[in-house]
Amino acid sequence: MNKYSLRGLYKKAIVTGGAGFIGSHIVESLLEDGLNVISIDDYSAGKSENLQGLSEKYGVKFKEVNCDITDYENLKSNFEGVDIVFHQACSKMTVCLRDPRRDLAINAEGTFNLLELSRDFGVKKFVHVSTGSVYGKAQYYPTDEVHPVNPTSYYGVSKLAGEKYVRAFNDLYGLNVTILRYFHVYGPKQESSDVGGVVSIFARTALENKDLTIFGDGSQVRSFTYVQDVVNINKFVAKDERAAGQAYNCASGLSVTIQQLADDILAELDKTTLNIVYKDWKIGDIKEFNVSNKKLTDLGFEFKYLDFSEGLNKTLEWSTSYFQRKDS
Ligand SMILES: NC(=O)c1ccc[n+]([C@@H]2O[C@H](COP(=O)([O-])OP(=O)(O)OC[C@H]3O[C@@H](n4cnc5c(N)ncnc54)[C@H](O)[C@@H]3O)[C@@H](O)[C@H]2O)c1
Repeated sequence: MNKYSLRGLYKKAIVTGGAGFIGSHIVESLLEDGLNVISIDDYSAGKSENLQGLSEKYGVKFKEVNCDITDYENLKSNFEGVDIVFHQACSKMTVCLRDPRRDLAINAEGTFNLLELSRDFGVKKFVHVSTGSVYGKAQYYPTDEVHPVNPTSYYGVSKLAGEKYVRAFNDLYGLNVTILRYFHVYGPKQESSDVGGVVSIFARTALENKDLTIFGDGSQVRSFTYVQDVVNINKFVAKDERAAGQAYNCASGLSVTIQQLADDILAELDKTTLNIVYKDWKIGDIKEFNVSNKKLTDLGFEFKYLDFSEGLNKTLEWSTSYFQRKDS
């Protein structure tokens, strides 16, 4: 049994955003631990193919539900017997620009619905996913969890509202919560269209034999974190009682420039004949990322993918076979 296994600790989990990139990895990992798992997703960004094969493999232990987290009654009908919630669903940056009111409804009201139901159904643990965007423009580096929160995007504001509701339910009702702030997660199954993550966008573009586009000069730094480490963090805080009521930065601490990422992907995929095209910086793009993960590692969490090439190679292997399957 691996050290993050939740076997015996919890029986039935809800994973919101379960058909999404990170959520689908968590669903599979919990099923491997022997839990009953309900994936809740409205498929606005998630895909059923991310959960393919799980029903056959795990039978009644796995349930895939099409449900919008802003729909309280529909959500409620799934809460019987649930003892842990991993709340990964979100309206992303792209939605927030197009429809900030919808962004507010999903990230704030949707979170409120889940918290109310968790309280009413006696859920033992609520793991809430937030984002580094809640900090806004960094006032100091490395940015730690006590850094002021001054989000500058609708997305950051709505995610912070979600965090505040989580804290309120902890203070008012003693709901056992932990907040996880993610930064630049990458890995298999990540969206690779233009609204996806940069690793999967570059991989897809190169596999299509097209030139890669970098916005800016490529010197911007990202702290890429492999999805399996993120799955492990979710399970780690669900196990460790000291994580109750706490918020943690979930960044590997690796520093990778976008230029290095592009070069590595072209080299690994043997596509060095392709060019890199440089376009204007995107407005609001953050050039430097230096995030402290000390609070999490001090608690005893160990990142496994600290060699960037290891996670990158696994991702590229997956992308290669995924696009081959799509083309055939
Ligand atoms: N990927 C990253 O680098 C990153 C960085 C910071 C924070 N996060 C956070 O991680 C979480 C997961 O992100 P992801 O990268 O897996 O994105 P994703 O888009 O793949 O997953 C989000 C899922 O939520 C679902 N969803 C959206 N609105 C919904 C609704 N109203 N009801 C039910 N489901 C809904 C989508 O269909 C999708 O499957 C999010 O909370 C996000 O804010 C991710």
